[in-house]
Amino acid sequence: MDIPKNADAAHYNDTIVRQFSIMAVVWGVVGMLVGVIIAAQLAWPELNFGIPWLTYGRLRPLHTNAVIFAFGGSALFATSYYVVQRTCQVRLFAGPLASFTFWGWQLVILAAAISLPLGYTQGKEYAELEWPIDILIALVWVAYAIVFFGTVGIRKVRHIYVANWFYGAFILAVAVLHIVNSAAIPAGMMKSYSAYAGVQDAMVQWWYGHNAVGFFLTAGFLGMMYYFIPKQAGRPVYSYRLSIVHFWALIFTYMWAGPHHLHYTALPDWTQSVGMLFSLILLAPSWGGMINGIMTLSGAWHKLRDDPILRFLIVSLSFYGMSTFEGPMMAIKTVNALSHYTDWTVGHVHAGALGWVGMITMGSLYYLVPRLFGKDKMHSVKAIEVHFWLATIGIVLYIAAMWIAGVMQGLMWRAVNADGTLTYTFVEGVKATYPFYVIRFTGGVLYLTGMVMMLWNVIMTVTSGRAVTVAIPSAQPAHA
Ligand code: HEM
Ligand code: HEM
Repeated sequence: MDIPKNADAAHYNDTIVRQFSIMAVVWGVVGMLVGVIIAAQLAWPELNFGIPWLTYGRLRPLHTNAVIFAFGGSALFATSYYVVQRTCQVRLFAGPLASFTFWGWQLVILAAAISLPLGYTQGKEYAELEWPIDILIALVWVAYAIVFFGTVGIRKVRHIYVANWFYGAFILAVAVLHIVNSAAIPAGMMKSYSAYAGVQDAMVQWWYGHNAVGFFLTAGFLGMMYYFIPKQAGRPVYSYRLSIVHFWALIFTYMWAGPHHLHYTALPDWTQSVGMLFSLILLAPSWGGMINGIMTLSGAWHKLRDDPILRFLIVSLSFYGMSTFEGPMMAIKTVNALSHYTDWTVGHVHAGALGWVGMITMGSLYYLVPRLFGKDKMHSVKAIEVHFWLATIGIVLYIAAMWIAGVMQGLMWRAVNADGTLTYTFVEGVKATYPFYVIRFTGGVLYLTGMVMMLWNVIMTVTSGRAVTVAIPSAQPAHA
């Protein structure tokens, strides 16, 4: 029901924002639970109980799809719909189409949750879903683009705030990536063959894969950063000029970095070098953006002491800085020769996923939920505080364990005796990794516990207490 619950609600379409926000939290718990299960299976393989649809190979893509597209995707829909209305000062364009994006996206998630454990897959990482689901994704995405750009088109403010540039680039790029990479010849209702073959297939897949990181896991979340950090800090963006340079440099550079996923493969050597070079260049815009976000706090650093929401938002940027320093280093061919195939990659992924994507989302949702449901604050601020520490300690355990395991694996695999034979058998490497898998599992349990607390806190905020009118200071974040 669309009851006016705060000063803005009568004017803006917040029903859709509420729906996506709640589902982001729910899918966060589900996706992370599957993450914890597969982390446990790596330490204790018998946990698949011999049941095919509980095997690691089927649950792993379920985890990645659930956290990236269900949790991350729902959060991106929610925040982009909220931000675009506030910064353009108009109601969302094409309301029924916006509703279609919600129900369509939930249907995609449901179809993924059924088809992946059943073993239906195209075998392309982050693009596993079979062709009928791919078509539904394309339809939802086109509707999303119409709603988002339609709203920008009818805006009452001449200026297009930078957060919308990032959201817009994310929507456009994901449309192109998805449609090109998913091109396939159907061979039955749930079976298809890629339109590309051999090394071209690999090249297209990692052009998609890396830009899924760059646009799905980064550009959209930078949109969140540019709106929610200034809002929560009550400060203008540190440098608006830097945000524009940040935007164009990031968008241009990301597109060329994909081949760093294919070092030392059949891909022509020069393309690998191009990938490496652009990955190194990518450090600059990434850090420019991070500095812009963190420096937005200048003059308000003291707020970090007692505002756990701001802490989520700012610490997420530290992890963003960390993973975007680590990424370019791993893209250097000689470093990649050590890191590739090892758990170092998995550590890098989760520094970005748990630290950056997870924490910026949690901070933004903690900002949003009370405002969306007409409450003056979350039910328990103490619980946000505890969540922050559980998440932070969980991430540190996860990524430190994977770094050590990864470097150790890389060194063990390449160690040779004087006579040229391998020093270690593969299974010795697996055995040495075992304690680190247990530490990663522990970190995952902490992170998941925090997320479950968030779900409880959101349910309590939504269902309990008296609705109050929240005075939302200004719709447009101030900027320099
Ligand atoms: C409780 C939290 C989480 C746990 C315990 C967890 C655990 C895992 C595990 C065990 C794997 C498989 C690693 C392997 O194959 O060796 C994995 C893969 C992955 N996870 Fe998570 N995960 C969590 C949260 C997340 C979140 C929030 C995201 C994204 C927003 C994410 C994104 C990914 C991705 C992209 C991969 C594939 C990595 C690769 O192919 O290198 N995870 N996760
Ligand atoms: C400047 C930015 C970044 C660069 C240059 C970069 C570079 C890299 C490199 C070189 C790899 C290893 C490829 C391999 O050996 O197979 C990798 C893997 C990965 N990175 Fe990053 N990274 C960056 C930022 C991020 C961020 C912020 C995230 C997450 C939010 C992220 C998510 C991933 C994922 C999911 C993979 C694993 C892909 C797979 O094999 O399945 N990266 N990245």
